[in-house]
Amino acid sequence: MNLVDIRNLEVQFPGATEPLTVIDDLSLNILPGEILGLVGESGCGKSMLARSIMGLVPSPGNVSKGQIFFGDLDLLTLDEPSRRSLRGNQISIILQEPMTTLNPVYTIGNQIEEVLKEHRPDMKRSERRQLVIQLMKQTGIPSPEARIHQYPHELSGGIRQRVAIAMALVGGKVQLLIADEPTTALDVTIQAQILKLFVELQKEHQMSLLLITHDLGVIAQTAHRVAVMYAGRLVEVAHVEELFDNPRHPYTRGLLHSLPRPGSHSRKQPMPSIPGTVPSPGAIPQGCAFYDRCGFRDDKQCLNERPNLEEGATEHWVSCHFAAEIPPFKVNSSDEVTP
Ligand SMILES: Nc1ncnc2c1ncn2[C@@H]1O[C@H](COP(=O)(O)OP(=O)(O)OP(=O)(O)O)[C@@H](O)[C@H]1O
Ligand code: SF4
Ligand SMILES: [Mg+2]
Repeated sequence: MNLVDIRNLEVQFPGATEPLTVIDDLSLNILPGEILGLVGESGCGKSMLARSIMGLVPSPGNVSKGQIFFGDLDLLTLDEPSRRSLRGNQISIILQEPMTTLNPVYTIGNQIEEVLKEHRPDMKRSERRQLVIQLMKQTGIPSPEARIHQYPHELSGGIRQRVAIAMALVGGKVQLLIADEPTTALDVTIQAQILKLFVELQKEHQMSLLLITHDLGVIAQTAHRVAVMYAGRLVEVAHVEELFDNPRHPYTRGLLHSLPRPGSHSRKQPMPSIPGTVPSPGAIPQGCAFYDRCGFRDDKQCLNERPNLEEGATEHWVSCHFAAEIPPFKVNSSDEVTP
């Protein structure tokens, strides 16, 4: 049984002549208790997918097709009050910059407590305080008894992100936590600590974590499964070891070649990256969206036919006409990403 089941999702924005499709025919499941990594370059639609699950697609954008099930609930047909009660309760989101979640004029203790009050209006004030302190401890905030009186600007970026995480979990029933680039704004050591915290909390609360990042290194350390997005579509979905050992989609391979590795900065081995950029929603080629940047393309099929996401090997889904023919992956062979 899936915790989340997204079926043929399409999200559009109005365009000058015709609607711009930013999520295109996307189907994906999230299993109970798994960490699913979602990767792709900037503009691929990762945040829009998260917003679709949260029911927060910004206007004038809208979900034009598809279904999103959360257990048995069809999220897209729920009324706004029911959605609101799910948000922050069973489904929570952590954003890149915690200051967008935190209010600068209230102490962090008051802010966490306010959210708790919404979920548990019956709770006594002293009990609430205790629970807030306990939650702050759980998210690794040092000396929570003193910190509850501090304001967001008095805290480091890492502690602020921990506060945002505490707020996201305060309802106590979170089944799906979405983290959208949760460590991008932090320095490297703090990034590692926050990632560790996510893994610990995910286990402890037995929740599912949708971890959005453009960094495959982060995915390698944390995720059970990985979904790779390109230009509003999924191009590859697989278990993490399988994806790293046997990437089938040329885009995934390009991302893996770009991954910093020991020695890859030396002159002999310049770090390859994928030439070109992600096409914008109004300019996606009619065949394969990756056509312009692909070293394996063929001018007939790839140019004209859009590939579908298909299960090549068990639980390994790829959207490429030549997924089966592409040779085994070799790290740092940059020739394949250059058309
Ligand atoms: N408010 C909006 N109006 C119109 N188009 C939008 C809006 N917000 C996002 N888009 C478009 O939707 C597409 C997907 O954007 P999204 O923010 O989901 O990308 P992303 O993968 O999260 O990128 P990043 O890694 O930079 O966060 C992009 O082409 C973007 O230009
Ligand atoms: S379908 Fe063709 S252009 Fe697209 S990724 Fe595969 S080989 Fe490259
Ligand atoms: Mg984003």
